[in-house]
Amino acid sequence: MSRNKAVDQAGASAPHGEALRLEGVRRVYGAEGNQVTALDGVSVSLPAGSFTAVMGPSGSGKSTLLQCAAGLDRPTGGRVFVDGAELAGDNEAALTRFRRQRIGFVFQQFNLLPTLTVMQNVTLPLKLAGRKVDRRHARAILERVGLGERLDHLPAELSGGQQQRVAIARALVTRPRVVFGDEPTGALDTRSARDVLGLLQEAVRVYGQTVVMVTHDPVAASYADSVLFLADGRIVGHQPQPTAEAVAERMTHLADEVERQRAAAGANMAGANR
Ligand SMILES: Nc1ncnc2c1ncn2[C@@H]1O[C@H](COP(=O)(O)OP(=O)(O)O)[C@@H](O)[C@H]1O
Ligand SMILES: [Mg+2]
Repeated sequence: MSRNKAVDQAGASAPHGEALRLEGVRRVYGAEGNQVTALDGVSVSLPAGSFTAVMGPSGSGKSTLLQCAAGLDRPTGGRVFVDGAELAGDNEAALTRFRRQRIGFVFQQFNLLPTLTVMQNVTLPLKLAGRKVDRRHARAILERVGLGERLDHLPAELSGGQQQRVAIARALVTRPRVVFGDEPTGALDTRSARDVLGLLQEAVRVYGQTVVMVTHDPVAASYADSVLFLADGRIVGHQPQPTAEAVAERMTHLADEVERQRAAAGANMAGANR
């Protein structure tokens, strides 16, 4: 494929500059007296055309981070910018519109609508956004994910890997600047996972999109350009050019470290309560 074609399909602007910026993002769940700080001041800047994996122990705030960055959840504090524009906070309709224009999201459990065909699932975001339903474009994306022969099938007639590829096509159909995936390979076998990771990588390398993916799998993380490590709602590390081995080792240390810090915090609390 020619370079120009790739740039055309990526959308109006070339993949330059900053795709995503978080400034001191906090998210506190629960009522006073019973609060959980899921994100404790996260600041990060991701360049356009980058592929970032987010890793961390269970409960470290990975999903909360993604949901806040994607406008699916509202931070308690801090600011989020996508493609240079601030995620508008006060108006639900504006936030939804913003999300539909600039953001794609892929879930672990695919979240396809069971009564809609493959083609209908993929064109739905265009309809919801009030955009022209370009079936040729939708078909081209479905061919790209290897499902050009399955347009009229229902999700239940597809394997898990195929369903996730439909979900990726659905996330890409609006040509979003940033595509988020929360454990997009978490429910897949190794081979389907590899297909999905290859498609996400292609979205970055060929189409200039920006991908942010939560995963607990070091092999999946090694498809990314860099890994952010999260612990207790904070970014505690960054690894460029990750290999599966290096990531696995870092995760092991991270789990030990978190346990030590929690034990120390517990001891301090006990001391303070004495
Ligand atoms: N809707 C919610 N209400 C209350 N607590 C929540 C909610 N969502 C997440 N949490 C808490 O916030 C923390 C981070 O959760 P999450 O972002 O799901 O972590 P991860 O995806 O890394 O496993 C956890 O302690 C979790 O229990
Ligand atoms: Mg999660």
